Amino acid sequence: MDTQLTTLSSFIIDEQRRLGKQASGEFTGLLNDISIACKSIASLVNKGALAGVLGVAGSENAMGDAQKKMDLIANDLFINALQHNGHCAGMASEELDEILTLPEGKIRGSYLVTFDPLDGSSNMDINIDVGAIFSILKAPASGEDPTAEDFARPGVEQIAAGYCLYGPSSMFVLTTGNGVNGFTLDTSIGEFILTHPDMKVPETTNEFAINASNQRHWEPAVQQYIADCQAGETGTLGKNYNMRWVAAMVGEIHRILCRGGVFLYPIDERNREAGGKLRLLYEGNPMAMIVEQAGGLASTGYQRIMEVMPNGDPHQRVAVIMGSKQEVETILKYHEA
Ligand code: F6P
Repeated sequence: MDTQLTTLSSFIIDEQRRLGKQASGEFTGLLNDISIACKSIASLVNKGALAGVLGVAGSENAMGDAQKKMDLIANDLFINALQHNGHCAGMASEELDEILTLPEGKIRGSYLVTFDPLDGSSNMDINIDVGAIFSILKAPASGEDPTAEDFARPGVEQIAAGYCLYGPSSMFVLTTGNGVNGFTLDTSIGEFILTHPDMKVPETTNEFAINASNQRHWEPAVQQYIADCQAGETGTLGKNYNMRWVAAMVGEIHRILCRGGVFLYPIDERNREAGGKLRLLYEGNPMAMIVEQAGGLASTGYQRIMEVMPNGDPHQRVAVIMGSKQEVETILKYHEA
């Protein structure tokens, strides 16, 4: 029996010490707050219909997506976990129209957090994977309320990013800019335990993930790449491919971290002006940081995602092509042509 378990909290404390960072405990506290929100969400997702959390809420978010009951509950759990302990100064969420500052009387901490509290929430009702995604930035002035512009920082300025996958088991996957580590929730003790140290995206792959129903709208470079994948070993790419589609980005990226692959949500004719479909601050940037920290690449097709300059809209969209290094490089060549 293994009595040397590394919990998420002890891992973070050790890592801060190893990196010689001034350990005020605030960053560790912030990650602990986020992990508590994720554990609470995991428990409800796991109970599903028994907890009465399936179905729609009857409202829409800032992007016009129909909100599920569990979207709103997960959002509240994140907000509650982040606003009480004095580690966070403000947040931006997929489920909130504007950025959120803290209620009067609460201590403003040193960090900003952006999050999608329940990614892929349409999977909830059919008992398929969902997740949470988060990104952490340093607040510009500790102790003060942030403005929307304070969140408008490129992904290269993230100091940490992660996701929690609610699948057959719940997993918290984290980078603080020093590699990627995965922790599995042991529900019997209520702790995330380090089970996947130093995760690496395999450099090569023959697996892609894209919503093929949008094929006719994709930009020509992606049309051609997918056509060449489908042509298999007799085509220009010279190998047979497999396709997977979980319809929750957390599920796709987790699969890619475990066994390689590429995930594409490219520019298409309907979202060209907006820049893509997925959201930069709480989907594109955090996942790009995780994938890059695990040795993969993350691009819009034309630019590194983490170098896209935000325009001040917390819900700004971005095109996403990320995963195994060599395959993303191949896709980028189609964009250069
Ligand atoms: O933006 C959220 C999201 O659910 C992603 O996680 C997922 O990849 C995508 O949207 C699926 O959207 P669609 O079903 O429209 O392709």
